[in-house]
Amino acid sequence: MDIHNPAYVAGHGLLADKSVLITAAAGAGIGFAAALRAVEEGCRAIVISDIHQGRLIESVAKLKGQNSLDAVYGLSCNVALEDEVQALINFAEDRLDGVDVLINNAGLGTTRALIEMDDAEWMKVIDVTLNGTMRMTRYMMQVMKLRGCGGAIVNNASVLGWRAQKGQAHYAAAKAGVMALTRCAALEAAEFGVRINAVSPSLCVHPMLKKSAPEALLRELQGREAYGRGAETWEVANIMMFLASDYASYLTGETISCSSQHA
Ligand SMILES: NC(=O)c1ccc[n+]([C@@H]2O[C@H](COP(=O)([O-])OP(=O)(O)OC[C@H]3O[C@@H](n4cnc5c(N)ncnc54)[C@H](O)[C@@H]3O)[C@@H](O)[C@H]2O)c1
Repeated sequence: MDIHNPAYVAGHGLLADKSVLITAAAGAGIGFAAALRAVEEGCRAIVISDIHQGRLIESVAKLKGQNSLDAVYGLSCNVALEDEVQALINFAEDRLDGVDVLINNAGLGTTRALIEMDDAEWMKVIDVTLNGTMRMTRYMMQVMKLRGCGGAIVNNASVLGWRAQKGQAHYAAAKAGVMALTRCAALEAAEFGVRINAVSPSLCVHPMLKKSAPEALLRELQGREAYGRGAETWEVANIMMFLASDYASYLTGETISCSSQHA
């Protein structure tokens, strides 16, 4: 394996016989990569969700038939709205005959110096990124506890939950919150056999990010990685698959960093 130019790794059946629900899975980034990986890892059925209805329909179509899987479903959901979160989990429970794995991928960021940020911008990032993950986790825990079959939840945090970067106070605070939520919720969920962990990606460059982030910033961030590059979306998804799988049976409440060490 060439770490500077890694080849796509084939599936290893890590999620064989499991059902999967993923939020924010209709973009060009980690969410859709995780959905594709879950199918390649042999999941028996999958529900993907996103706030963007058009891309969601396209993403369901792209996944259908991969690895001979027909049980691919989509439902739009804004994780900032409690009723949509509950509707999504109820839909997934029904279509999948129980959710075994939930991947909370939805998160939102902007770049703004704190002294220039108004409450609305702060609240929006916190509400989607932290509160959205909390809403999905809370309701999924209630449902998994009632069903009594265990399960795994994987949250998407960020190394910014640990590190400082100008213009990112709101996003970093939200992601640090996701890590703390993961630790505390995992302790409660262990009582009914549910594991909760998080990944913490560093830079993961994909077409939508290339469009929205300044080129100079992306170059600077890539230069700070020991590999001199950001992660491929599927490299982050691979770590999610491990955390979701039974290989991680003795792992809960942890946040696994997905980065090559900062230089
Ligand atoms: N890309 C990176 O470098 C990076 C680094 C660290 C962490 N992350 C985290 O990874 C996750 C995925 O980000 P990504 O950049 O890979 O893009 P992605 O394609 O996985 O996610 C973007 C998708 O999120 C959807 N979305 C936005 N708001 C939503 C909402 N309120 N409810 C539901 N869906 C919503 C968008 O429609 C879009 O399709 C985020 O939580 C992000 O904070 C990304």
